[in-house]
Amino acid sequence: MSLPLPRWIAHRGGGSLAPENTLAGIRLAARLGYRAVEFDVMLSADGTPILIHDETLERTTDGAGRVCDTPDAVLFALDAGDGERIPRFAEAAALCRELGLLANVEIKPATGHEVATAEVVAGLTADLWRGAEVQPLLSSFSLEALAVARDRAPAIPRGVLFEAPPADWLAQLRRLQAVSLHCDADLLRDEVLAEARAHDIPVLCYTVNAPEQAKTLFARGVSALFTDRLDLFA
Ligand code: G3P
Ligand code: MG
Repeated sequence: MSLPLPRWIAHRGGGSLAPENTLAGIRLAARLGYRAVEFDVMLSADGTPILIHDETLERTTDGAGRVCDTPDAVLFALDAGDGERIPRFAEAAALCRELGLLANVEIKPATGHEVATAEVVAGLTADLWRGAEVQPLLSSFSLEALAVARDRAPAIPRGVLFEAPPADWLAQLRRLQAVSLHCDADLLRDEVLAEARAHDIPVLCYTVNAPEQAKTLFARGVSALFTDRLDLFA
């Protein structure tokens, strides 16, 4: 497939050197030489797509409660670490375009909001990257969300996220017309890699923070790795 996939992808925006899923993190990744960045996108109570990983606010912000129950006026006043705000998806997209970064946009629906989240994120992705030289890659653990993305924005490439790829992973990719397989680095079996290689499907693994593990995975034929250790890889 023809994605211009770098070997290293900065995980959750800026990994662990900057507050996760923030514009500061994305800027740092670019400054350190990364050419690709992954971030998680969820809807606020107002239906605004924002960068955040957890369904609740406590771990990464000074707020409390569920993201999908929190209105924008509250969300955008929160501190997401080091005085950073929670970014809107549109802001992150503009920054990635400005910096020439490939964006892996992970659709991260709050439970029960799979269809709405995918509708908004996929539609907006097509709009925000219209005419861009470097196209984004959508991904999700939610197969339901990926099916919506396929129908809503068929031209935007999709990757399917698994923890351990199930026996029918290839059939799932085909059904979703997806171009890449994303999985947990510790749960990738050789049979899966061989099948992916036979079908020319890139395999991307999360989350790899140890150089030895990275070396082994690349030697096994993995195409790209997500890392939090922006200081170690680029
Ligand atoms: O997209 C790769 C990785 O981000 C998936 O796991 O939980 O960090 O979103 P998580
Ligand atoms: Mg993610």
